[in-house]
Amino acid sequence: MRGFGAVAARVYGWLYRRSPSNAVVIELLELRDGDRVLEVGCGPGTAVALAAERIGADRVAAVDPSSTFVDMVRDRVPGADIREGSAEKLPFDDGTFTAIWSIASMHHWPDREAGLAEQAAKLAPGGRLLIAERLLKRPGHGITAAQTAEVIAHLERLGLNDVRAVERPSGRKTLQVIHASH
Ligand SMILES: C[S@@+](CC[C@H](N)C(=O)[O-])C[C@H]1O[C@@H](n2cnc3c(N)ncnc32)[C@H](O)[C@@H]1O
Repeated sequence: MRGFGAVAARVYGWLYRRSPSNAVVIELLELRDGDRVLEVGCGPGTAVALAAERIGADRVAAVDPSSTFVDMVRDRVPGADIREGSAEKLPFDDGTFTAIWSIASMHHWPDREAGLAEQAAKLAPGGRLLIAERLLKRPGHGITAAQTAEVIAHLERLGLNDVRAVERPSGRKTLQVIHASH
């Protein structure tokens, strides 16, 4: 599925307005003054709001292919730079961001490898990439251990450093979080 229609986006936004996985990822990112950050597939914008509380909305950008989510997050986080876009085609210059993350989004991307390459290109030197997905036993709306190994191998082929995965509890789920740095 490429994106959410307007009704699905509103229902998702209502159900997941305070998704715990978003707080887990923001904690792991250890955002600091001077960061300029991007969320890919921001949905209703919980992580965007948390990042803006930490470093200021003017340091935070996000993309989503759903115009409903984009409008929702523009209202929710005034001052953040929220644009329509996709993982495979990010409307920003290369080398812009000190941190880029996605949460429960990668399993929607039609071309995962192109999306990862595009995000690697948008990282500034020393920038960090975090990809979080629900850990699954079988392929589905999340990531399996075998898929994690494929993503790690692709990030290493892209020349990223310190690529590794960590598991974190998130409500009743386990989050698989893949880290890499430029
Ligand atoms: C399950 S939602 C997660 C939203 C949000 N990250 C969260 O944790 O609440 C998946 C999100 O990925 C977005 N998405 C779908 N295809 C995408 C693509 N090709 N590139 C970027 N985002 C995409 C969807 O529109 C949706 O907002």
